[in-house]
Amino acid sequence: MHYQFPVTKTTAPKGKPDPECLNFGATFTDHMFLMDYNVENGWHNGRIVPYGPLCLEPAAAVFHYAQEIFEGMKGYRSPDGRALLFRPDMNDRRAMNSCERICIPPLPEGLMTEAVKALVDLERDWIPEKEGTSLYIRPFIFATEPFIGVRASNEYLFVVILSPVGPYYAGGLAPTRIYVEDKYVRSVPGGTGEIKAGGNYAVGLRTEHEAHEKGYSQVLWLDGIERKYVEEIGTSNAFFVIDGEVITSPLTGSILPGITRDSVLTLLRKWGLKVSERKLSIQEVYDAFDQGKLEEVFASGTAAVISPVGELCWKDRKLSINGGNIGPLSQKLYDELTGIQLGKKEDPFGWVVEV
Ligand code: COI
Repeated sequence: MHYQFPVTKTTAPKGKPDPECLNFGATFTDHMFLMDYNVENGWHNGRIVPYGPLCLEPAAAVFHYAQEIFEGMKGYRSPDGRALLFRPDMNDRRAMNSCERICIPPLPEGLMTEAVKALVDLERDWIPEKEGTSLYIRPFIFATEPFIGVRASNEYLFVVILSPVGPYYAGGLAPTRIYVEDKYVRSVPGGTGEIKAGGNYAVGLRTEHEAHEKGYSQVLWLDGIERKYVEEIGTSNAFFVIDGEVITSPLTGSILPGITRDSVLTLLRKWGLKVSERKLSIQEVYDAFDQGKLEEVFASGTAAVISPVGELCWKDRKLSINGGNIGPLSQKLYDELTGIQLGKKEDPFGWVVEV
């Protein structure tokens, strides 16, 4: 289905940020996409308007019970000037699963992708060109009905905003220091860890804050029941290379089904590597280190891309991974993924979509 959305252009376009000083998620483009939901009309009134504040009642349900979901995706500029998206259908599907889990009425099939394309098309000049930069795309849906009883809202807003970004971690591809979290938990099977709901990220803030205070950039989450098995790194999926086997957690219900995670698994299998989606205990990671078999650890995500881990700390014992340097597999994956995303490398899986 092809949608046409009316556009109201800004009368006060902003200047573009300096591509040399782009950090993550602090600057926004000139326009945003909005669409309303109410019970009488369903999803309606999709439109592009100047970026600016939203007017909501203090009683809007989202402020009280966090009925909200979001997505994260990126727009890239190819060397020949095309605007490219990476696997937008996956974000669309995942967002609709997230909606279903917390009783938000799903958008009509494909509408999120069409809204993203329409906005990126209008804002294509905002896609930065410098290596390591991109246009981060943030679609989100939240409850707007002014009602503080606890039930699903009858009114929602779907919004897409765009932000030209540099690397998620200030150090770019420099390996990160990761603290293994054994006090707090992120999720358990049957909870909401496998959807992209804002509330999942709120519960991680205290943990991240404490990790920062200890000098670490993020945490490695362990499973919420036994506190034994590795799950995610901060807001990304986690991969471990042990004795030639690349291991990541299976999608047990508490892990976010990352689009970069899926792309990494697909590439590794194409390259003929031994890949396992299996439970991996933190003890096994430490034992592998002691036996000289822990080759690499890295995180994968839309924002983080491939983010190598240089140090792990669990119960005060620190491991220096690959001498604190980026490992060859992490580098190869980063080069291959960003090469495909930027339209510089062959795209054998048909992942890239031109706007
Ligand atoms: C992403 O990788 O897109 C995320 O959603 C992570 C984060 C910025 C919340």
